[in-house]
Amino acid sequence: MGTCGAVVSVSLDGVRDDNLTQLKKLNSILFPVRYNNNYYADVLASGDFTKLAYYSDTCVGSIACRLEKKEDGAVRVYIMTLGVLAPYRGLGIGDFAIDDDDDVLDLSSKENVSEVYLRVQTNNEDAINFYKKFGFEISETIRNYYVRITPPDCYVVTKYIGQPQSEK
Ligand code: ACO
Repeated sequence: MGTCGAVVSVSLDGVRDDNLTQLKKLNSILFPVRYNNNYYADVLASGDFTKLAYYSDTCVGSIACRLEKKEDGAVRVYIMTLGVLAPYRGLGIGDFAIDDDDDVLDLSSKENVSEVYLRVQTNNEDAINFYKKFGFEISETIRNYYVRITPPDCYVVTKYIGQPQSEK
């Protein structure tokens, strides 16, 4: 579990069988979609790429990823969900969850990850601005991606990861 320098009372924890309920509760509040068993199996398989964020003792956010192996052996990281409960937004918790020591972007640069990507509804300006701050770019627009929410369109937002030089 890491602790945040700027916001001292924020910490992160991994996701395991015994705290998976916390992630389920957060998702039911944050997202208009009910996630199925495949989502939670991917979460448990993603290891350190999925985290719960705590503000003091309260679980207030999460980042959940799926690792996708490409044919050439490289790994793509798909951010399935990232969310912070509304009263706790703007405090740097999302920043801490994605870009701290041993978090998704840091781990990606240390491991054989070629890109990190996600899909976001086209009207979600908060999230789009958030991701742009960390060097993500809109790489594709998919019309009518969502069935039950409006607007139905999404952006694919991607950050390509440069690999550290390997030692010879
Ligand atoms: N407007 C503009 N920029 C923003 C905003 C905003 N509302 N929120 C965050 N940012 C940018 C800023 O540059 C900010 O840096 P700064 O404070 O130095 O200016 C930076 O992002 C980091 O902000 P944090 O405070 O760390 O972000 P927060 O903890 O509020 O989390 C998040 C951002 C996760 C997008 C939050 O708004 C949220 O939970 N939204 C609802 C759920 C959601 O839409 N999730 C993403 C859906 S896509 C997906 O899940 C794959």
